[in-house]
Amino acid sequence: MQKLIQWIDERLPIVEAWEKHLSKYYAPKNFNFWYMFGSLSIVVLVNQLLTGVWLTMSYVPTAEGAFASVEYIMRDVEFGWLIRYLHSTGASAFFVVVYLHMFRGLMYGSYKKPRELVWIFGMTIYLALMAEAFLGYLLPWGQMSYWGAQVIVSLFGAIPVVGEDLAQWIRGDYLISGITLNRFFALHVIALPIVLLGLVVMHILALHEVGSNNPDGVEIKKNKDANGIPKDGIPFHPYYTVHDIVALVIFLFVFCTVVFYFPEMGGYFLEKPNFEPANPLKTPNHIAPVWYFTPFYAMLRAITYPFFGVDAKFWGVVVMGGAIAILFVLPWLDRSPVKSMRYKGWMSKVWLLIFAVSFVILGVCGALPADAQPSWLAPLCTALYFAYFVLMPFYTRMESTKPVPERVTG
Ligand code: HEM
Repeated sequence: MQKLIQWIDERLPIVEAWEKHLSKYYAPKNFNFWYMFGSLSIVVLVNQLLTGVWLTMSYVPTAEGAFASVEYIMRDVEFGWLIRYLHSTGASAFFVVVYLHMFRGLMYGSYKKPRELVWIFGMTIYLALMAEAFLGYLLPWGQMSYWGAQVIVSLFGAIPVVGEDLAQWIRGDYLISGITLNRFFALHVIALPIVLLGLVVMHILALHEVGSNNPDGVEIKKNKDANGIPKDGIPFHPYYTVHDIVALVIFLFVFCTVVFYFPEMGGYFLEKPNFEPANPLKTPNHIAPVWYFTPFYAMLRAITYPFFGVDAKFWGVVVMGGAIAILFVLPWLDRSPVKSMRYKGWMSKVWLLIFAVSFVILGVCGALPADAQPSWLAPLCTALYFAYFVLMPFYTRMESTKPVPERVTG
C-alpha cells in the first residue's frame, strides 16, 4: 500500500493534497453546530449526483414518455421509488442545508475580508442550484412542472424589447413543449452538474487559501506557535472529519424519516398537481413553486403597479433579480470593524432578525394564493428584506461594537 501511494505520489501529489486540505489544514477549534452544513451540502450533492444518474437510466426525456417513465420508475423499477424519493427529498434537503449554511455566513461575517471570493463562489453556487432545481422540476412532466415552467419562462417576456424573443429562444417553441423538455433535460443532467461541481471545488480551494472563519470572527492565522501552526487551530482530519460524521448521522436520521414516511411532505416537497400529467389546455387553479423558491416568488408578485409606463411584471422581475444580486455585494455593504454577530452592536442583530423573519414570511406568502393573504404583507417584507442590505453601510458604521478577543473563546 505504502509503495503504491509512493508510486502515485511521484506522479500526482496526492499526499501533498491530503495534507494541505485535510490532515494539515488547521481549522479553528471553536466550530459549532452551524459549521456542519458545509460538509452536509457536499453529502447532499453526492446523493443528488448518484441518484440522478440512476434515475436517468430509466427516465424517458420526451413529452410523450416522461410522465409514464416516472410512474414506471415508481412502480416497476427495483427500488425505483427509493431512488426517486432520495432525489426529490434531496432537492429540498439541499436548500435546507444551503440556507442554513448561508445564514451562518451572515451571522459570523464569513463573507468579509479576506473571504469575499469564498462568498462570491457560494452565491454563484446558489444561482446554479436554483437553475438546476428549476430545470429538474420540468422533467416529471406533471401539471405543476408544466405550468411552473410556463410562469417562470414567461417572466423573461417582461423584459422590454427583446423579452418575447428571449422567452421563445429559451423554450425553443411558442409554448413549453417536448423541445423545451429535451433541452432542460440536457442542462439538468450534464451542463449544470458540471458547473456545480466545478464551483464547489473553487469554493473550497478559495476557502482553504485564506482559512476558515469561526463563531468569534477571530483570524487564527494571526496567532501562530513556533512551528507556524495557528494556536487556535486543530487539524481538520481527524478532528473535524469525526465531528462531521456525527452531523451526518443526525442528518441521515431526519432525511431518511422524510424519505420513508413523508416523501411528499404534505405537498411541499412533491406538489399535488404534479401527480397529473401535463395538460397545456388546463391551467391549475393555484400555481406555486416549490417552497425554496416561494420567498422570491412572493417578491415577484409584491409589485402590482406599473412604473415609468413599464408593466408591473417587469418591475417584479427586477425586484426578484435584485434580491439575489444584492447578496453578491454583501461583503462591500458591511462596514463593521468586527465580523461576528457576537461582537456587533444591537442594530446589526435586530436587522439580521428582521431580515430572517421577513424572508420566512415571504416564503409563506409565496406559497399561498394571492387573495389568501393581506395585500400589504409581501410588499412590506420585500421592503424590509432590501432595507437590511441597503441600510447596512450605515448601521454597521454607526453602532458601537464589543472588543474582539485575541484568541477564540471556548
Ligand atoms: C453545493 C453547495 C455548497 C457546498 C457543497 C459548500 C461547501 C462548503 C464547505 C465544505 C465549507 C467549509 C465548511 C464550513 O465552513 O461549513 C464552506 C464554507 C463556506 N461557504 Fe459554502 N458550500 C456551498 C454553498 C454555499 C453558498 C450558497 C454560500 C453563500 C452564498 C456559501 C458560503 C460559504 C462561506 C462564506 C464559507 C466560509 C465559512 C466560514 O469560514 O465561516 N457556500 N462551504
